[in-house]
Amino acid sequence: MAVGEIVLNSGYKMPALGFGTGSPPSPPAHELTAIIVDGIAAGYRHIDTAAMYGTEAAVGAAVAEAVERGLIKSRREVFVTSKLNVFDTHPDLVLPALKQTLSDLKLDYVDLYLIHWPLRIKKGANVSNLKGEDLLHFNVKEVWEAMEECCKLGLAKSIGVSNFSSVKLSNLLEFATIPPAVDQVEMNVAWQQQKLVKLCKDKNIHVAAWSPLGANGAFWGTLAVMESPVLKEIAASRNKTVPQVALRWIVEQGVTPIVKSYNKERMRANLEIFNWELSDEDICKIQTIPQARALKGDRFIIQGHGDYNSVEEFWDGEL
Ligand SMILES: NC(=O)c1ccc[n+]([C@@H]2O[C@H](COP(=O)([O-])OP(=O)(O)OC[C@H]3O[C@@H](n4cnc5c(N)ncnc54)[C@H](OP(=O)(O)O)[C@@H]3O)[C@@H](O)[C@H]2O)c1
Repeated sequence: MAVGEIVLNSGYKMPALGFGTGSPPSPPAHELTAIIVDGIAAGYRHIDTAAMYGTEAAVGAAVAEAVERGLIKSRREVFVTSKLNVFDTHPDLVLPALKQTLSDLKLDYVDLYLIHWPLRIKKGANVSNLKGEDLLHFNVKEVWEAMEECCKLGLAKSIGVSNFSSVKLSNLLEFATIPPAVDQVEMNVAWQQQKLVKLCKDKNIHVAAWSPLGANGAFWGTLAVMESPVLKEIAASRNKTVPQVALRWIVEQGVTPIVKSYNKERMRANLEIFNWELSDEDICKIQTIPQARALKGDRFIIQGHGDYNSVEEFWDGEL
């Protein structure tokens, strides 16, 4: 199945469906490499990783193996996204962090480099059990300038953000000399992000959707996508699966789903979303699905510490 491409505001093209690799705990690197090679063989040309996931080495090895096996002619045929870790969101740490990412990937550049979270956490802190003193101030202006430097050096072809609310994105646009190409956020039929999607459309910023299937209820996710009666009804009437309807809906919003499947059949099935359309009636039904953000980020909030006193502040009320 041919996957279309999006032209980002940086001028670079990005395949319209991404292959996620952020799923704890990750399989051992050699197994994950084989899984990602399967993904490339199936047709994925856009791979999502992050320093935080510990999957960069496996992604790089998979791209190299795909070239070696002739699945692709060169590394340039795969769009690789990675992300600046929460420990490195300080202007002096951005370039060294990206150089470490490139070394782990064994690549000369990433196609897209994102600020993973609008946060700064003390290096070495246990992110699953943060203490007040672990939460530091995140200076978005200075960090963004360092991201722009990475772009000017050619180490990141495009730069962007992740988990930025509409308010944080608008603020960033006030001073950015290179506007973010992408905001990668939680988005699915049960958290439709209408406000952010509209802002991004107006400002020519592309939205990428993580947890497009609600992570199938695991980790930070929700079962509100996979168990949605509305999606089940649409899927049955169109002879599609619930995940296909969920992914197709995102594509029709002009957004790029980043979907994770380490299963060969499911990763192939998830690609079958480009040669059919939802009807207006289907779209209207999907608009009636109750809305809730699944990952609120409570673990990043300790009152009186860091930049945010509540999840409402963290998301600027977009909950
Ligand atoms: N920027 C961020 O802060 C952020 C946060 C979270 C995630 N992400 C990125 O987004 C990617 C995807 O998000 P996600 O992992 O949260 O969730 P997801 O893609 O919505 O769901 C993944 C889950 O759905 C299952 N699945 C996939 N296709 C399926 C199908 N056709 N039928 C049934 N089950 C299916 C997978 O299991 P199998 O593997 O067994 O198929 C897995 O358990 C991540 O891997 C990561 O790269 C980014």
